[in-house]
Amino acid sequence: MCGIVGFVGRAQAAPILLDGLRRLEYRGYDSAGIAVEQAGEIRIVKTKGRIQCLADLTGEGQKVPGTLGIGHTRWATHGEPSDVNAHPHRSMSGKIAVVHNGIIENYVELREYLQKKGYVFVSDTDTEVVAHLIDYYYKGDLLKAMIKAVNRLEGSYALGVVCADCPDQFAAVRKASPLIVGLSEEGNFIASDVTALISHTKRVMYLEDDEIVLVGREGVRVYNMNEEEIEKEISEVTWNIDAAEKGGYEHFMLKEIMEQPTAIRETIRPRLKEGRVVLDDVCLTAEDLKGLRRIIITACGSAYHAGVVGKYVLEELTRIPVEVDLASEFRYRNPIVDDKTLVLIISQSGETADTLAALKEARRRGARTLSIVNVVGSAIAKESDDVIYTWAGPEIAVATTKAYSTQLIVLYLFALYAAGLLGTREEAELRRLAAELESLPDKIEALLPACKPEMQRLAAIHYGAENLFFIGRNLDYAAALEGSLKLKEISYIHSEAYAAGELKHGTISLIDQGRLVIALCCQNALFDKMRSNIREVKARGAVVMALASESHPDIRETADQAVLVPETDPLFMASMEVVPLQLFAYYVASANGCDIDKPRNLAKSVTVE
Ligand code: G6P
Repeated sequence: MCGIVGFVGRAQAAPILLDGLRRLEYRGYDSAGIAVEQAGEIRIVKTKGRIQCLADLTGEGQKVPGTLGIGHTRWATHGEPSDVNAHPHRSMSGKIAVVHNGIIENYVELREYLQKKGYVFVSDTDTEVVAHLIDYYYKGDLLKAMIKAVNRLEGSYALGVVCADCPDQFAAVRKASPLIVGLSEEGNFIASDVTALISHTKRVMYLEDDEIVLVGREGVRVYNMNEEEIEKEISEVTWNIDAAEKGGYEHFMLKEIMEQPTAIRETIRPRLKEGRVVLDDVCLTAEDLKGLRRIIITACGSAYHAGVVGKYVLEELTRIPVEVDLASEFRYRNPIVDDKTLVLIISQSGETADTLAALKEARRRGARTLSIVNVVGSAIAKESDDVIYTWAGPEIAVATTKAYSTQLIVLYLFALYAAGLLGTREEAELRRLAAELESLPDKIEALLPACKPEMQRLAAIHYGAENLFFIGRNLDYAAALEGSLKLKEISYIHSEAYAAGELKHGTISLIDQGRLVIALCCQNALFDKMRSNIREVKARGAVVMALASESHPDIRETADQAVLVPETDPLFMASMEVVPLQLFAYYVASANGCDIDKPRNLAKSVTVE
């Protein structure tokens, strides 16, 4: 969703801000703007539409001179996407300009308060109150004004604030919305995520809630709400600019699909030692695990689908009951959670509002929390008792691929680790599974070159399909959920994932002549059951494209088209079969001319409810 970037230094700010905003485009937005200070004046240029419109308006930034500024991509929440509602917002005096991510929950009350003081509002946004509020408290000291204003704000926010009286520094603060500070010789930065800064610096500071930073040309100072300066650790980002660029691929999504073997390898490597799973990042002991009554996995979107895979694998290996719940449901359903519950949180971004709220709710009820997160230092990582990072690197395409795949890997690793501590599986069996896991990246690497043209060919046959079905049983069903979502998200073709055995209890009435059904038959133990389900839908006119393991070439006798997937342990098969499904979605979307990396209406990080 919204993105923030800010810069002060020796170089011209506007081109740097535009470059940063372009790198934040993937988060999803509908308008953009910049504010640049020069000679005691703040110039704001903002517009509805793509960053390119902003770049055109400003002559790629050349028409807005100045070496200090802030920029923003807005994903509308309060007020329609329009020029006037775009950020930055300016106070009535013209002294203060603000960019904001998040939601100010008490903005109506604050607006009334400020209106009584004579402030006139021009936009429909919640953000505008922040500009006027800081202006109201500003008596020549920006830090003091920030503290007073922040004390009155309720909700979530990351704020970048420029003051016309301050030519050498700007201010920023965060609460439940990510914000990092970047340090370099060329100048200093803020951004809502590392991708906006990585072409300038790898040295970053992760801000905590209610920390206010004054970002100066020569240095950065961080303060708490008592106006006391605090020491912050400087971290080094481990990936480089190539990871945030397309590297010759037409789309980030395809690049990220092809990066999966590496991402999976990186996620496994530090956690397998001498054939055993070692999770240095987790403090759960055998006693803790033995005391658990259940595990609840909660997440949104694809991360939730990874959780469904996790349920099957964790229950199988640990025999602890596992529930999977959408974070947006979990947080409002009075869940049965106590200190004998482990709540597993899964999130690529680590900042999804519903997932973060579910985590807080779980903690409030006394649960032990463990999160599986891709972004280091993100809100969810910070709030959890334990974190296992997926080392997928930055994921730019809105539709997740490599992050989902590494989430599966972490779930497998955790299941093996827990089974080892609990003694629910023999040591030899666990070693066999660990070895199988270690071989997964090579297997996916081998699968990709053959699978890519094959899925392109199948997409060319099926790209005009409407209302199709994905069916599967057990882990194939879990993979079907993700395969179906991938297709819907990026191709805008409606599809539904169904447990194959459930189809006949209603939805089979939707099967008619020529209806496409994608049947996932990669669980060998259930192959015959799936074959019967395929026959049922074919008897009613369906065209069936099936995925089966290489040990079942006989699938060709039953399905209209068949894709054979290399074998691994059945517990890990979802990792193999999701790859052709991702490629199928990609090529169907491509054949339909869709905006693959930035599908309409979707955002990469959903930081509002
Ligand atoms: C959005 C994205 C999905 C993602 C979901 C959860 O809806 O479009 O691709 O799966 O958020 O995101 P998270 O960052 O928590 O994994």
